[in-house]
Amino acid sequence: MRFDLTQEQLLVQKMAREFAEQEVAPIAASIDQEERFPEENVKRMADLGLLGMMTPEAHGGAGLDTVSYVLALEEIARHCAAHAVIMSVNNSLAAWPIEKYGTEAQKQKFLTPMAKGEQLGAYALSEPGAGSDPAGLTTNAVGEGDAYVLNGQKNFITNGGHAHTYIVFARTQPELKHKGISAFLVTKGMKGFTWSKPEEKLGIRAAHSTQLFLSDCKVPASQMLGKEGEGFKIAMSTLDGGRIGIAGQALGIARASLEESVKYSQERKAFGKAIGSFQALQFMMSDMATELDAARLLTLHAAQVKDRGEKYGVQASMAKLYASEVAMRNATKAVQVFGGVGYTRDFPVERYMRDAKITEIYEGTSEIQRLVIARSLLGDVAGA
Ligand code: CAA
Repeated sequence: MRFDLTQEQLLVQKMAREFAEQEVAPIAASIDQEERFPEENVKRMADLGLLGMMTPEAHGGAGLDTVSYVLALEEIARHCAAHAVIMSVNNSLAAWPIEKYGTEAQKQKFLTPMAKGEQLGAYALSEPGAGSDPAGLTTNAVGEGDAYVLNGQKNFITNGGHAHTYIVFARTQPELKHKGISAFLVTKGMKGFTWSKPEEKLGIRAAHSTQLFLSDCKVPASQMLGKEGEGFKIAMSTLDGGRIGIAGQALGIARASLEESVKYSQERKAFGKAIGSFQALQFMMSDMATELDAARLLTLHAAQVKDRGEKYGVQASMAKLYASEVAMRNATKAVQVFGGVGYTRDFPVERYMRDAKITEIYEGTSEIQRLVIARSLLGDVAGA
């Protein structure tokens, strides 16, 4: 498939492809098995400008567009989905909202080191009792002099423990639902701020997800991101961009599944011929290729709409919904193409299948994406 790309976008894609082939691919299987956070490659991603891709150069980033970001994520996720989510959380969920809503002082202090990859960022919205319905979150922030005192617990925080700066959403007005939520920049080392050991997960095992605990954690008022009560809007608009990133990650998994299936079916023989000569497998791979191209078009389109400065939430939801479901279908088919060995750790396709599943869940489940799309179609009738 060919999508008209600029010279700069092609160069970014090539750089990310080379990095992924040379430095990510060799460790992808072992970091998954060992559940090891790839510290060395996170540093390399920082050197290559992959951790602050869309942040302006004035704030330490590469100043690139969202299309370039999607292209880079696909290349990296082609070899390791865990690397891709570490990267996408830093870019989309942590750096982007500070660039959009932060004061100049907050940008200098928190965004610049994050975009340079010197200090990772994380996004802390979900709670044990509030996942798909973040307006119901209960972490609270009570004003005390020129600070807020935060108490509560956060769940499934990607980069938890490794990140320095966490965008924590907390309730400043208990009587107001979504309008009573504010965003805070909480940093490692603050008294009353701790985290759990990483969750033991089905997939993306090298990308650590932890719980966060806030116990009388005093955050200076100067570290509120945006205005009081603006937190829900900040959280939702941030997820719009995050969903484009997860779609890019899903593309990488879907492509890896197809490419490995093609290669294996040209080599593996059954009944005296290459298994790729059987129509049952040919049709499977035809569907995988067609759906991958459709997912890529939707994702690049969402990125382009964002780059044009137009509203892109619905396009982001469509891209994330479709690309994540294609990743899951392609990975499942890849395991089927490989047969028995596909179910073992001797080949990477079982990892693709485990990694694909989370793309249908995090940053809004497929059902939430369908809800966002339905509300855009039906308005009040769908509860918008
Ligand atoms: N941008 C800006 N504002 C938005 C918005 C958006 N995309 N979506 C909604 N809003 C605003 C609305 O305009 C409305 O504002 P007003 O009151 O001023 O009119 C307000 O937010 C409330 O909107 P809704 O009534 O639509 O809100 P809702 O409570 O019904 O929720 C939802 C809508 C789509 C279901 C939303 O709750 C949602 O996206 N849920 C899923 C959450 C999610 O994706 N969680 C993943 C966490 S991150 C993660 O996965 C971890 C990780 O580290 C990778």
